[in-house]
Amino acid sequence: MRYGHFDDERREYVITRPDTPLPWINYLGSEAYFGIISNTAGGYSFYRDARLRRLTRYRYNNVPFDLGGRYIYLRDAVSGDFWSPSWQPTQSELEDYECRHGMGYSAISSRRNGIEAETLYFVPLAENLEIWRTRVTNKRDDEAKLSLFSAVEFCLWDAWDDQTNFQRNFSTGQVEVEGSVIYHKTEYRERRDHFAYFACSEPLAGFDTQRDTFLGAYKGWDRPAAVERGESFDSVANGWAPCGSHHVELTLAPGESKEIIFVLGYWENADEAKFDPPGSQTVNKKLVAPVIERYLRSDEVESAYQRLRDYWSELLGILQVSTPDEHTNRMVNIWNAYQCMVTFNMSRSASFYESGIGRGMGFRDSNQDLLGFVHMVPERARERILDIAATQLPSGGAYHQYQPLTKRGNNDVGSGFNDDPAWLILGVAAYVKETGDTSILDEEVTYDNEPGSESPLYEHLQRSLRYTQHRLGPHELPLIGRADWNDCLNLNCFSTTPGESFQTTENKEGGVAESVFIGGLFVLAAEELARIAELRGHSDEAESYRADGAKMDGVVREHGWDGEWFRRAYDYFGEVIGSAQNEEGSIFIEPQGMCILAGIGLDDGKAKKALDSVASKLACEHGIVLQQPAFSHYYVNLGEISSYPPGYKENAGIFCHTNPWIMIAESIIGRGDAAFDYYQRINPSSREDISELHRCEPYVYPQMIAGKDAPSFGEAKNSWLSGTAAWNFVAASQWILGIRAEYDGLRIDPCLPKEWEQFEATRKFRGATYRISVSKPSGVCKGVAQVVVNGKKIDGNLIAPHPAGAEVVVEVTMG
Ligand code: BGC
Ligand code: NOJ
Repeated sequence: MRYGHFDDERREYVITRPDTPLPWINYLGSEAYFGIISNTAGGYSFYRDARLRRLTRYRYNNVPFDLGGRYIYLRDAVSGDFWSPSWQPTQSELEDYECRHGMGYSAISSRRNGIEAETLYFVPLAENLEIWRTRVTNKRDDEAKLSLFSAVEFCLWDAWDDQTNFQRNFSTGQVEVEGSVIYHKTEYRERRDHFAYFACSEPLAGFDTQRDTFLGAYKGWDRPAAVERGESFDSVANGWAPCGSHHVELTLAPGESKEIIFVLGYWENADEAKFDPPGSQTVNKKLVAPVIERYLRSDEVESAYQRLRDYWSELLGILQVSTPDEHTNRMVNIWNAYQCMVTFNMSRSASFYESGIGRGMGFRDSNQDLLGFVHMVPERARERILDIAATQLPSGGAYHQYQPLTKRGNNDVGSGFNDDPAWLILGVAAYVKETGDTSILDEEVTYDNEPGSESPLYEHLQRSLRYTQHRLGPHELPLIGRADWNDCLNLNCFSTTPGESFQTTENKEGGVAESVFIGGLFVLAAEELARIAELRGHSDEAESYRADGAKMDGVVREHGWDGEWFRRAYDYFGEVIGSAQNEEGSIFIEPQGMCILAGIGLDDGKAKKALDSVASKLACEHGIVLQQPAFSHYYVNLGEISSYPPGYKENAGIFCHTNPWIMIAESIIGRGDAAFDYYQRINPSSREDISELHRCEPYVYPQMIAGKDAPSFGEAKNSWLSGTAAWNFVAASQWILGIRAEYDGLRIDPCLPKEWEQFEATRKFRGATYRISVSKPSGVCKGVAQVVVNGKKIDGNLIAPHPAGAEVVVEVTMG
């Protein structure tokens, strides 16, 4: 069953009923000001940091689900009937409800009793504000007298404090109201330099800023007292819970439409310009005034919206494909690329499942997010790499996360994940391959943000590699530390205290637990660093990295191979994990993917064998599960992984992030049907027909789909913020379609389903545009017989970079 449909032409998903199985959300904002919005207008906004600069309040895990948002109420002055055109929070019956989630905007429309309302929500490029443009149309035969109320609840900035520190918060809230603008200025004194504003384009019949007055005592958002009675209270918040609500009266002739614009924004005033008059405590509104005025104008709103659409046309235009499969086209051309931008922006901080206060920017996560994003805005990827690297520790180790506002690493979500440093090498490699810009390697970057500790980024990469090399266990495999990519494989933790966080609890001393996965990752990273060293003319160094990689490759083959697949790890006691000897957890997906990506076992049949084992033991209808058999009880030596019920999350869930590694591995060994089949199993668009089971949005990847051991096999959870986005984009575009940026050019090396006969693509790469057509005799999956570039046959399948501005016609024949 479906709850809507794709409109690929407009790059939108159109939701046609409000009661989707879960809120189906979208993101607003591109760089600094962001919002999350659901299909019923739920969600919240923040400036840069979802924890430290939260503008509006949202209560997670609320009942009913998804309450709190950007609300509009309409009220018929004659009948007294009132409703929410976005369905929530009144949940009144609507006709023609539609929510169109697009690239950086959402539009929600509906009709009730002949009154149509449509609200477009978006954040203009480069502005720290969001626009709600509401159009109300009277489709009745007679005049309509209506009241329109807006409503947001303000957050007192630090979202964690906001939800916990009530003894203080109930006394701090402050606002100012001037004309049609509500200013939320809690704590705007000599210390705090920012405030929020909520403006309306119309003269007001009234306003409210005290939530409990607006709603009425003991009442909810579904029937605010002001809306019920059709008149605001003009309340001014002092403490308690500041909110923003404008009341606009409308009289519409039959057929008449009226546009009302709201602007909700964030503003900072410099110290010397905070107050007006100086010395008072009144917000200086002079500097923000022109911005508000501008975006309350209809023509400005329309052109800002068009600019946003153009911006996305340009970004998505960097890679466009036309293949025989609509799901591939839709995901690669539109939604997967879009999700890559969102994961790049948010890391794992704010979604409907990440509360914005738990996690900031992950070290490992952000490096992987880059992989699917770097082709779109390489300058931002560059900046991000430098931010991440600046938090690296002098040992080469890493904080697991940093807060986006402060950009300083912290141990709030744990530390000592021994795979972290290697991901920096892969992130930088992806950037250099895309751009050819090696100057980034010379950028002076601090360690642990300590001024004076700077070294060139290149040295950070060297330290990353050494970090692993200097931490080897009894089998010469890398020590796992707290965990590796699998945060829940906590082999040194031995937690017996319920409620204790596996991610932060002290590791047991002297642990020698080792990770085969990091072994594979090391081999991959060593080769990338060798290539980077060569670019810098250090061929000796490159040779030594290759030797290090080869040595680890040997260790993995010797101690990491189980006979039919790659093992996962060795535990604290040196016992093997992920082996046929283990009753539960005898085969894991991660080392099969990572070792083959690193090239281990390609020459001696191990890779193929490992992938056959994945197919027979881990693959199922809804994707590939993380391990088998699932852990049926808690193992103190394994940690969090065995705390989950079988089939969920890391305990044998279909952890979507890892599936593309297998797609890539299958592509590397040339099995195009298998690679594509795995791609389809988790592709959200191809799962649209089973939305009732899948439950999450059909336009973006979730982190996890319940595995075959779970009662709800096939049900997705935790949509949007996952490395799944970047890795699926990489798998589909670079390995299945085979269009891959490399250090010295663009390689075309597809691995396709047998039955495909052709596809076309446009790829912009280092300023030139490549128009690629690939033809293939059916029956073949991989192998390029000939590449013709601008009419001339070239050797091999690597196209040297063309000058910026060039149009390059590429004809590829497989066979
Ligand atoms: C989850 C992981 C997550 C980790 C870190 C665990 O509970 O299962 O997926 O990465 O927490 O927050
Ligand atoms: C989610 C984390 O964000 C990611 O870094 C990790 O690799 C997976 N969980 C697996 O545990």
